Amino acid sequence: MQPQHNFNNQDSSTNHGQSLNVSGPSSLQEVQELKEFVCTKLPELLTQISTAQGSLRDEVLQLLRNDLFRSESEEILLKGSFEEQRRMQLDLVMLKTALEKDQLDTLGELNSLLSDVSAFTRIPETLTYELIILANEESNMRTFRDGKVGKAEEAFYQGHKKVEESLTCGIENLLQALDILEKPQLELKDNLRLATLIGQFCERMEEVKKAYSTYFLSAKSAFNAQHFAEFRKYLSETPEHPGPSGLFSAQMFAAKLLVLGKEGLEDRIPFIREKLDYYPVEHREKLLKSVIGAEAGRSLRDYTKRSDLAQSVRAAIEDASQAILADAKVHRGVVRTILPEAFTQDMAGTAGQPIKEFLEGGVQNIGNSLNNEG
Ligand code: HEM
Repeated sequence: MQPQHNFNNQDSSTNHGQSLNVSGPSSLQEVQELKEFVCTKLPELLTQISTAQGSLRDEVLQLLRNDLFRSESEEILLKGSFEEQRRMQLDLVMLKTALEKDQLDTLGELNSLLSDVSAFTRIPETLTYELIILANEESNMRTFRDGKVGKAEEAFYQGHKKVEESLTCGIENLLQALDILEKPQLELKDNLRLATLIGQFCERMEEVKKAYSTYFLSAKSAFNAQHFAEFRKYLSETPEHPGPSGLFSAQMFAAKLLVLGKEGLEDRIPFIREKLDYYPVEHREKLLKSVIGAEAGRSLRDYTKRSDLAQSVRAAIEDASQAILADAKVHRGVVRTILPEAFTQDMAGTAGQPIKEFLEGGVQNIGNSLNNEG
């Protein structure tokens, strides 16, 4: 199917090439007008909410009808990289989300362009975890709000980004370890390498733990519970789609499955399969392979039955498993601090269960599978 644009009454082909700044041989520039609007104007408007009610819709319309924007966005669709298309989708989705959450009418032109971009990227036409965390630029972080709340929002996204970076490296260590564990016979050098790789994974999980305290719990961080309450509405679900929860961190689930196998995670697997399209495109395959691998008994813990496994490797696998359990507990602690009402009231979560029950159950199941106290 060929995605169609619904730009009205303009022959945007006449603008092709004129407005494009091509930086370097491989890439197109951003859709500058859109980027500037989302980075600067949008948080300003949303922070002064009374002004926003009056002008946000008009300003977005003006932007969408601007010739420069139209020719650049077409160019990104026709020639842009996945990264550029994904970033344009983030900007468009932020506009759509802002309009929806402030109960303004959504715009046909915006939805139409968004639907085209989504057909290219395979990312749903909503604010996903992939868009707000992975596509969001470190050096030009998009936030819905500005001022102190905007700084807190930025720290929230940065914290998730930091965790994802550590997980990418940690998963690489685990995949290499599993390749060795698939050998029919383990030699001394294999056991030594395994202990190193699994030890490196544990170091990455230490980094994850540190990121939680640095970004979400430290008094030095711009993030805090009051500010979170102010921007959280933009991250909530819509009638058609779930919100961009950390629940859609494919890498966090992949790491859990690669270490523990399906034990303790059985109740999470149906959700992953059902909602696979909401997980990041770049991690979907990694996630599905870990699910299928875990179901087929391909995880670190499954391999502890091998008789040729050195004691040091067994100990490293135990450390890795404990690191996963510790992460679930630290995360639960962060949520309890930042969103205490989720633990005192029956607050519904993204996974369709009350948040408290869901997170407590997760810790409990992992703990039980390791024969530990949850
Ligand atoms: C202030 C920081 C955070 C808050 C307030 C928070 C909040 C939540 C909540 C409420 C849930 C329950 C599911 C839902 O309703 O969406 C959840 C689940 C989850 N979050 Fe977070 N989160 C935070 C940080 C993170 C970070 C940095 C990650 C790292 C990728 C992450 C990954 C996850 C995962 C994997 C789940 C599913 C847990 C499970 O299966 O038991 N979260 N989070």
